[in-house]
Amino acid sequence: MKTVNTVEALREQIRAWRGTGARIGFVPTMGNLHAGHLSLVEQARRDADRVVVSVFVNPMQFGPGEDYDSYPRTLDADRARLEAAGADLLFAPPVEEVYPVPLAEMTRVEVPEVGSILCGRFRPGFFAGVATVVTKLFNMVQPDLAVFGEKDYQQLIVIRRLVRDLSLPIRIEGAATLREPDGLAMSSRNAYLTPAEREVAPQLHHVLEGLIAALGAGDRDFPALEQQGMQQLELAGFRPDYVSIRRAVDLSVPDREEAELVVLAAAWLGRARLIDNLRTAPG
Ligand code: PAJ
Repeated sequence: MKTVNTVEALREQIRAWRGTGARIGFVPTMGNLHAGHLSLVEQARRDADRVVVSVFVNPMQFGPGEDYDSYPRTLDADRARLEAAGADLLFAPPVEEVYPVPLAEMTRVEVPEVGSILCGRFRPGFFAGVATVVTKLFNMVQPDLAVFGEKDYQQLIVIRRLVRDLSLPIRIEGAATLREPDGLAMSSRNAYLTPAEREVAPQLHHVLEGLIAALGAGDRDFPALEQQGMQQLELAGFRPDYVSIRRAVDLSVPDREEAELVVLAAAWLGRARLIDNLRTAPG
């Protein structure tokens, strides 16, 4: 596996592969890779001939006072894991390679509506930061397909929208959430949890499971269920931002007949902001 740090070197390698007719798969990440990230690499390997992975902690998607400076940066360990997982190319650009001008002067990609609800409401500018960097990375790599985790469900929906709205010729694939044995969704931010908080953390998944069970049993009082989820999280020791039941296809507010629902939650536990979601089985 090669590592490149510049767009020029990246493009040279991609050009060579394209010349042989290879299909390019792409997995964007912020590094500190765990088994969840590696499952996306495996999926890309199945569906493409060559797999490019980016590791870039994107300053544009962090708000003031968020964890940009302390976000774990573990490039050597990431490189070893990617090599073992069979990735073909690691793209790890420095900030100047991605942002040639100060962030405030950068052209931005905004995804309205779906980018401003749920996590977008609590983290203003977050999805514009994600959409902008992913658009740039797509233009740099020019992949045939890209794989995103369903763990970040709203992000996946935002990316699908931007690809459609901007007519990008890239297939977006979702990949199932990888969990710890006790149900906690794998995340780089789990490292922020104290041992006591780590014991509590799987409750986030369990509360969502309870709501999915209620929906499966025919309960359609969505606001009451959301309220119940919030209370359960508070009782467990979380500070929830939201618990929300939405249409799985576009995150709009569902009517009672909607068959494909997703329950999403974001909640603080100590200094970690955890997110998770579960979908109902299609009816
Ligand atoms: P990051 O948090 O590093 O995640 C990279 C990819 O891994 C995302 O598609 C995310 O959904 C996926 N992922 C994370 N945890 C997972 C898990 N437990 N199971 C399955 N997939 C998981 O998401 C980002 O980076 C950034 O916002 C990025 C898209 C790279 C733009 O900067």
